[in-house]
Amino acid sequence: MAHSDFPNLTVISHPLVQHKLSYLRSQDTTTDTFRRLVREISQMLAYEATRDLPMKTAPITTPIATFQSPVIAGKKPCIVSILRAGNGMVDGLLELLPSARVGHIGLYRDPTTLEPVEYYFKVPEDVADRAVIVVDPMLATGNSAAAALDRLKECGCSAIKLLCLLAAPEGVGNLLKRHPDVPILTASLDERLNDHGYIVPGLGDAGDRLFGTR
Ligand code: URA
Repeated sequence: MAHSDFPNLTVISHPLVQHKLSYLRSQDTTTDTFRRLVREISQMLAYEATRDLPMKTAPITTPIATFQSPVIAGKKPCIVSILRAGNGMVDGLLELLPSARVGHIGLYRDPTTLEPVEYYFKVPEDVADRAVIVVDPMLATGNSAAAALDRLKECGCSAIKLLCLLAAPEGVGNLLKRHPDVPILTASLDERLNDHGYIVPGLGDAGDRLFGTR
Protein backbone atom coordinates (compact mmCIF):
# COMPACT_ATOMS: atom_id res chain seq x y z
CA MET A 1 0.00 0.00 0.00
CA ALA A 2 1.25 3.53 -0.83
CA HIS A 3 2.71 5.56 2.05
CA SER A 4 0.35 8.27 3.37
CA ASP A 5 2.91 11.13 2.94
CA PHE A 6 4.35 9.88 -0.34
CA PRO A 7 1.97 8.39 -2.92
CA ASN A 8 5.02 7.19 -4.92
CA LEU A 9 6.35 5.07 -2.04
CA THR A 10 5.56 1.56 -0.80
CA VAL A 11 7.30 0.30 2.35
CA ILE A 12 7.46 -3.49 2.47
CA SER A 13 6.63 -4.21 6.10
CA HIS A 14 6.77 -8.01 5.85
CA PRO A 15 8.30 -9.46 9.05
CA LEU A 16 11.04 -11.31 7.13
CA VAL A 17 12.11 -8.11 5.40
CA GLN A 18 12.11 -6.11 8.63
CA HIS A 19 14.00 -8.79 10.58
CA LYS A 20 16.70 -9.11 7.94
CA LEU A 21 16.94 -5.33 7.62
CA SER A 22 17.67 -4.94 11.33
CA TYR A 23 20.67 -7.27 11.06
CA LEU A 24 21.75 -5.57 7.84
CA ARG A 25 21.90 -2.24 9.68
CA SER A 26 23.99 -3.55 12.56
CA GLN A 27 27.61 -2.39 12.51
CA ASP A 28 28.59 -5.86 13.75
CA THR A 29 27.33 -7.62 10.60
CA THR A 30 30.21 -9.08 8.62
CA THR A 31 30.76 -8.55 4.90
CA ASP A 32 29.55 -12.01 3.91
CA THR A 33 26.36 -11.74 6.00
CA PHE A 34 25.77 -8.21 4.73
CA ARG A 35 25.93 -9.46 1.12
CA ARG A 36 23.59 -12.34 1.85
CA LEU A 37 21.06 -10.09 3.56
CA VAL A 38 21.14 -7.56 0.71
CA ARG A 39 20.48 -10.42 -1.72
CA GLU A 40 17.64 -11.85 0.37
CA ILE A 41 15.89 -8.51 1.01
CA SER A 42 16.28 -7.54 -2.66
CA GLN A 43 14.60 -10.77 -3.66
CA MET A 44 11.60 -9.99 -1.47
CA LEU A 45 11.36 -6.43 -2.80
CA ALA A 46 11.46 -7.88 -6.32
CA TYR A 47 8.59 -10.23 -5.45
CA GLU A 48 6.46 -7.19 -4.60
CA ALA A 49 7.70 -5.13 -7.55
CA THR A 50 6.70 -7.80 -10.06
CA ARG A 51 3.14 -8.22 -8.77
CA ASP A 52 1.64 -6.36 -11.72
CA LEU A 53 3.69 -7.83 -14.59
CA PRO A 54 1.37 -8.39 -17.57
CA MET A 55 0.11 -11.95 -17.96
CA LYS A 56 -1.21 -14.04 -20.84
CA THR A 57 -2.12 -17.70 -21.13
CA ALA A 58 -0.21 -20.43 -22.95
CA PRO A 59 -1.19 -24.03 -23.69
CA ILE A 60 0.36 -26.34 -21.05
CA THR A 61 0.10 -30.11 -21.11
CA THR A 62 0.07 -31.83 -17.74
CA PRO A 63 0.19 -35.64 -17.48
CA ILE A 64 -3.64 -35.41 -17.39
CA ALA A 65 -4.76 -32.68 -19.81
CA THR A 66 -3.84 -29.70 -21.99
CA PHE A 67 -5.16 -26.34 -20.81
CA GLN A 68 -4.53 -22.60 -21.05
CA SER A 69 -2.32 -21.65 -18.10
CA PRO A 70 -1.04 -18.19 -16.98
CA VAL A 71 2.49 -17.12 -17.93
CA ILE A 72 4.21 -13.71 -17.96
CA ALA A 73 3.60 -11.83 -21.22
CA GLY A 74 6.03 -9.73 -23.22
CA LYS A 75 9.78 -9.31 -23.19
CA LYS A 76 11.89 -10.19 -20.17
CA PRO A 77 12.19 -7.35 -17.65
CA CYS A 78 15.41 -5.35 -17.46
CA ILE A 79 17.12 -4.76 -14.12
CA VAL A 80 19.18 -1.57 -14.13
CA SER A 81 21.88 -1.25 -11.49
CA ILE A 82 23.11 2.16 -10.39
CA LEU A 83 26.84 1.58 -9.83
CA ARG A 84 28.36 0.52 -7.66
CA ALA A 85 26.12 -0.42 -4.74
CA GLY A 86 23.20 -1.39 -7.02
CA ASN A 87 25.26 -4.42 -8.08
CA GLY A 88 24.75 -5.92 -4.61
CA MET A 89 21.02 -6.15 -5.30
CA VAL A 90 21.17 -7.64 -8.82
CA ASP A 91 21.75 -11.29 -7.82
CA GLY A 92 18.71 -11.31 -5.53
CA LEU A 93 16.52 -10.09 -8.37
CA LEU A 94 18.03 -12.56 -10.83
CA GLU A 95 17.09 -15.43 -8.54
CA LEU A 96 13.43 -14.52 -9.15
CA LEU A 97 13.89 -13.29 -12.73
CA PRO A 98 16.65 -15.54 -14.09
CA SER A 99 16.15 -14.44 -17.71
CA ALA A 100 16.02 -10.72 -16.99
CA ARG A 101 18.39 -8.43 -18.87
CA VAL A 102 20.77 -6.30 -16.80
CA GLY A 103 21.78 -2.72 -17.55
CA HIS A 104 24.27 -0.52 -15.69
CA ILE A 105 24.42 3.21 -15.07
CA GLY A 106 27.51 4.82 -13.54
CA LEU A 107 27.23 8.30 -12.05
CA TYR A 108 29.56 10.37 -9.91
CA ARG A 109 28.91 13.64 -8.19
CA ASP A 110 30.77 16.62 -9.69
CA PRO A 111 32.65 18.14 -6.72
CA THR A 112 31.91 21.75 -7.78
CA THR A 113 28.35 21.60 -9.13
CA LEU A 114 27.40 18.60 -6.91
CA GLU A 115 25.34 17.39 -9.90
CA PRO A 116 25.50 13.72 -11.00
CA VAL A 117 27.70 13.16 -14.07
CA GLU A 118 27.33 9.97 -16.12
CA TYR A 119 30.48 7.91 -16.72
CA TYR A 120 28.89 4.65 -17.88
CA PHE A 121 25.61 3.71 -19.52
CA LYS A 122 24.77 0.34 -21.03
CA VAL A 123 21.25 -1.04 -21.39
CA PRO A 124 19.64 -3.36 -23.97
CA GLU A 125 18.76 -1.59 -27.26
CA ASP A 126 15.11 -2.51 -26.83
CA VAL A 127 14.93 -1.43 -23.16
CA ALA A 128 11.89 0.77 -23.97
CA ASP A 129 9.87 -2.41 -24.63
CA ARG A 130 10.67 -3.91 -21.23
CA ALA A 131 9.53 -3.45 -17.66
CA VAL A 132 12.50 -1.78 -15.99
CA ILE A 133 13.49 -2.28 -12.35
CA VAL A 134 16.15 0.18 -11.19
CA VAL A 135 18.13 -0.90 -8.13
CA ASP A 136 20.09 1.29 -5.72
CA PRO A 137 20.26 0.29 -2.04
CA MET A 138 20.26 3.81 -0.58
CA LEU A 139 17.85 6.51 -1.76
CA ALA A 140 19.50 9.49 -0.05
CA THR A 141 19.17 12.88 -1.86
CA GLY A 142 17.60 11.09 -4.83
CA ASN A 143 19.76 13.03 -7.30
CA SER A 144 21.50 9.97 -8.77
CA ALA A 145 18.25 8.04 -9.02
CA ALA A 146 16.54 11.02 -10.69
CA ALA A 147 19.41 11.33 -13.21
CA ALA A 148 19.24 7.58 -13.94
CA LEU A 149 15.47 7.83 -14.47
CA ASP A 150 15.93 10.87 -16.78
CA ARG A 151 18.35 8.82 -18.86
CA LEU A 152 16.08 5.77 -19.04
CA LYS A 153 13.13 7.94 -20.07
CA GLU A 154 15.32 9.48 -22.82
CA CYS A 155 15.64 5.89 -24.10
CA GLY A 156 11.83 5.62 -24.20
CA CYS A 157 11.30 3.61 -21.00
CA SER A 158 7.92 4.15 -19.39
CA ALA A 159 7.28 1.14 -17.14
CA ILE A 160 9.93 1.84 -14.51
CA LYS A 161 10.10 1.01 -10.80
CA LEU A 162 12.83 1.88 -8.31
CA LEU A 163 13.86 -0.59 -5.61
CA CYS A 164 15.95 0.53 -2.65
CA LEU A 165 16.69 -0.99 0.74
CA LEU A 166 16.43 2.31 2.62
CA ALA A 167 14.94 5.64 1.65
CA ALA A 168 15.28 9.12 3.17
CA PRO A 169 12.26 11.44 3.08
CA GLU A 170 14.41 14.01 1.21
CA GLY A 171 15.08 11.55 -1.64
CA VAL A 172 11.52 10.29 -1.89
CA GLY A 173 10.25 13.90 -2.01
CA ASN A 174 12.80 14.80 -4.70
CA LEU A 175 11.67 11.86 -6.85
CA LEU A 176 8.02 12.63 -6.24
CA LYS A 177 8.65 16.06 -7.81
CA ARG A 178 10.85 14.90 -10.67
CA HIS A 179 9.44 11.44 -11.44
CA PRO A 180 5.98 11.12 -9.87
CA ASP A 181 5.14 8.28 -12.28
CA VAL A 182 7.90 5.98 -10.93
CA PRO A 183 6.83 3.80 -7.98
CA ILE A 184 9.48 3.33 -5.29
CA LEU A 185 9.60 0.16 -3.18
CA THR A 186 11.72 0.14 -0.05
CA ALA A 187 12.22 -1.85 3.13
CA SER A 188 12.23 1.32 5.26
CA LEU A 189 11.56 5.03 5.15
CA ASP A 190 14.21 6.29 7.57
CA GLU A 191 14.24 9.54 9.55
CA ARG A 192 16.43 11.93 7.58
CA LEU A 193 19.79 12.67 5.98
CA ASN A 194 22.67 13.91 8.13
CA ASP A 195 25.03 16.76 7.15
CA HIS A 196 27.23 14.33 5.20
CA GLY A 197 24.34 13.00 3.13
CA TYR A 198 24.10 9.71 5.03
CA ILE A 199 20.74 8.21 5.90
CA VAL A 200 19.90 8.22 9.65
CA PRO A 201 19.74 5.67 11.26
CA GLY A 202 20.66 4.01 7.95
CA LEU A 203 23.34 1.36 7.64
CA GLY A 204 26.44 3.37 6.73
CA ASP A 205 28.01 3.27 3.29
CA ALA A 206 26.29 0.47 1.40
CA GLY A 207 28.99 0.17 -1.27
CA ASP A 208 31.80 -0.06 1.27
CA ARG A 209 29.93 -2.62 3.34
CA LEU A 210 29.06 -4.72 0.28
CA PHE A 211 32.50 -4.71 -1.24
CA GLY A 212 34.61 -4.56 1.94
CA THR A 213 36.39 -1.38 0.84
CA ARG A 214 36.53 0.19 4.25
N1 URA B 1 24.82 6.13 0.32
C1 URA B 1 25.15 5.22 1.25
O1 URA B 1 25.83 4.25 0.97
N2 URA B 1 24.71 5.40 2.52
C2 URA B 1 23.93 6.45 2.87
O2 URA B 1 23.54 6.55 4.04
C3 URA B 1 23.60 7.40 1.88
C4 URA B 1 24.06 7.21 0.61
